[in-house]
Amino acid sequence: MADQMLAQSFLNAGAEYDRYRPGFPEAAADTIMSTPVRAALDLGAGTGKFTERLIDRAERVIAVDPSEQMLAVLREKLPAVEAHIGSAESIPVAYGSVDIVTVAQAFHWFDREPACAEIRRVLAPGGTLGLLWNHSDTACAWDRACHRIAHPAVSEVDETTSSAAEELPGFEFESHRTIRWRERIRRADYVSRWLTVSSFMVASDAERARMLAEVEHILDTDPQTAGRDDFDLPQITDVYVYRAA
Ligand SMILES: C[S@@+](CC[C@H](N)C(=O)[O-])C[C@H]1O[C@@H](n2cnc3c(N)ncnc32)[C@H](O)[C@@H]1O
Repeated sequence: MADQMLAQSFLNAGAEYDRYRPGFPEAAADTIMSTPVRAALDLGAGTGKFTERLIDRAERVIAVDPSEQMLAVLREKLPAVEAHIGSAESIPVAYGSVDIVTVAQAFHWFDREPACAEIRRVLAPGGTLGLLWNHSDTACAWDRACHRIAHPAVSEVDETTSSAAEELPGFEFESHRTIRWRERIRRADYVSRWLTVSSFMVASDAERARMLAEVEHILDTDPQTAGRDDFDLPQITDVYVYRAA
């Protein structure tokens, strides 16, 4: 079972999350769907950072998320998308009605067994499930050091991502692709991004201030970031594709 407090930290996020979190490269959507489909569902859609990649790839795009605040941003940004409050464990979509389900940056929050059963229920026979995670490039020393502040207990291997490689009940694993890309980011936005990460959001004010001061110290002292207003942040997007068995 996922950590409920961290999962629910997104209930009150929204505009800040949308402004500061990275998006996803086109190549990530291309990996999941090579041709347009009738209907696609983005589950745990949040503010629509991956949903927008589905717009030109499906006649009907549906977004589901438990957070009204996240969906409010999505509705404003993507008015053509059908946005519904719901969860992976209880998806407000009819049996066999979508060809593709995508989950970006959210599958690790789901209660896996009931979520997989629900995704199977809403997928048409032979439908596709695409799981995506952005994560940091451990070769980038200053970004890796900042990640250690947010997730001190996490090893160098990204545990949220590696958990996707396991077998999923009711699905056949089809492919895994790693996409490397670079994001140009302002220092101020990089610092603000940390405030949208769950471990910062649930920290006490004093603890959050301490964590932010450590991030600023790293940026002040690393040779690649010291004295600069913006820099290139290496990003990695992992895409896992499954087929309904
Ligand atoms: C890190 S955000 C990712 C949002 C968006 N997919 C993106 O990539 O920007 C995680 C999202 O998962 C949602 N979430 C958490 N628990 C969930 C659940 N059980 N079912 C569906 N969505 C859930 C949160 O509300 C949040 O919007």
